[in-house]
Amino acid sequence: MQAAQDYIQANKQRFLDELFDLLRIPSVSADPAYSDDVAKCAERVAEHLRLAGADAVEVCKTDGHPIVYGEKIIDPSKPTVLVYGHYDVQPADPFELWHTPPFEPVIRKTEIHPDGAIFARGSCDDKGQMFMHVKAFEAMHKTNSLPCNVKFMIEGEEECGSSNLGPFVRNNRERLKSDVILISDTSIIANDTPSIDCGLRGLSYVEVEVTGPNRDLHSGVYGGAIANPITILAKMIASLHDENNHITIPGFYDKVQELSAAERADLNKAPFDIEAFKKDLEVDDVWGEKGYTVNERTGIRPTMECNGIWGGYIGEGAKTVLPSKAFAKLSMRLVPHQVSDEITALFKKHFESIAPKGVRVEVRPHHGGEPVVTPTDSKAYQAASDAMEKTFGKKPIPTRGGGSIPIVALFEAELKVKTVLMGFGLDSDALHSPNEHYGLFNYYRGIETIPYFHHYFAL
Ligand code: BES
Ligand code: MN
Ligand code: MN
Repeated sequence: MQAAQDYIQANKQRFLDELFDLLRIPSVSADPAYSDDVAKCAERVAEHLRLAGADAVEVCKTDGHPIVYGEKIIDPSKPTVLVYGHYDVQPADPFELWHTPPFEPVIRKTEIHPDGAIFARGSCDDKGQMFMHVKAFEAMHKTNSLPCNVKFMIEGEEECGSSNLGPFVRNNRERLKSDVILISDTSIIANDTPSIDCGLRGLSYVEVEVTGPNRDLHSGVYGGAIANPITILAKMIASLHDENNHITIPGFYDKVQELSAAERADLNKAPFDIEAFKKDLEVDDVWGEKGYTVNERTGIRPTMECNGIWGGYIGEGAKTVLPSKAFAKLSMRLVPHQVSDEITALFKKHFESIAPKGVRVEVRPHHGGEPVVTPTDSKAYQAASDAMEKTFGKKPIPTRGGGSIPIVALFEAELKVKTVLMGFGLDSDALHSPNEHYGLFNYYRGIETIPYFHHYFAL
């Protein structure tokens, strides 16, 4: 064990340089303009797995972006850890809000990361966190201290719905056979407060289109006599929350399980500094469903958000137009027992029903995903907890993550294997946002912690 840790210390700079190389590849999965870069990134990840010592490394073609596989089987009688991560990233725009270009990684110090953070798209989500596993594996392999079998499945479509991972998993059940799935793609509470997410929310994502007149109209000649699709859409979206910020879709909460008072008390024991939270975001108050704390609102309660809205004239100057159409993208985060397709259907029915006369409404479903709760009474959770306690000097707090990794529920259903979400990012690392970053502390702490996980899990 110490040999692997010494190896990590001796190779720190190279581990960083190699991550920088990966971050320079703009592997934006949602935008077809970047598909060559996505393919290049998959090849680079495969190359790194080979160099680290993995066998049977393969860049597996899919109907979309490839999945990188690799493994090291030291002894079939030993337990097997399947590491999942993603090498694709979110689009980087709006580019003008980045202080340095998104695909030219640099290190800068911040208040939260006084030792420096790597600024680049994907630094935290998820190239930096995924690559920690490759480097930890290298350290264990090169020092002959790998205590169990390891498999890697690194996908390139997590940020755009993972639509080809389901079929891949179904067609590769034998190859993916494992005792636990280990993922670093979530956050800890703070660098001095380790935590492990024990649940993730699901997702239901829709696009809506409101059509009024058959063409754009002069807003003086027709305005006042014809429904303006933007006004109507804005009202319809606003009506999705009531005065207590409950969601108004009939049946939306039917399957939501209320937590017991004890469970809620436990959840609220996790340290949370509301003043620091507001200060970081420069808002003078928080918002949300009446009767719930911030941690509950992001962890155990479902939500409805408008992710984008457009229509009419948004160019320079003024154009007096009554537009024919207005659009929005809306997403709902789901909690245990809500089912993505069911919620999408409820939304569609409701949204169509509240459309007034004078407009037509179309609802188009996008990708979705199911919520999950991961066990805390398993050997794998205990191994992650012990590993973090070893490197942080504090026992990690079990938490609920607000984000979604839809594939976790699918792994459980298809492979009958449970997941441990041992993430090392911070919520304030600006994931999906301009100036995404990942602390050097977090990167190295992750690499140091992972060998302990394998060690404890294999015991
Ligand atoms: N790594 C995130 C999910 C995440 C972040 C979970 C922080 C918990 C804490 C993942 O890459 C992600 O962004 N997922 C998407 C879902 C996907 C279907 C686009 C999300 O949560 O919006
Ligand atoms: Mn991610
Ligand atoms: Mn993401």
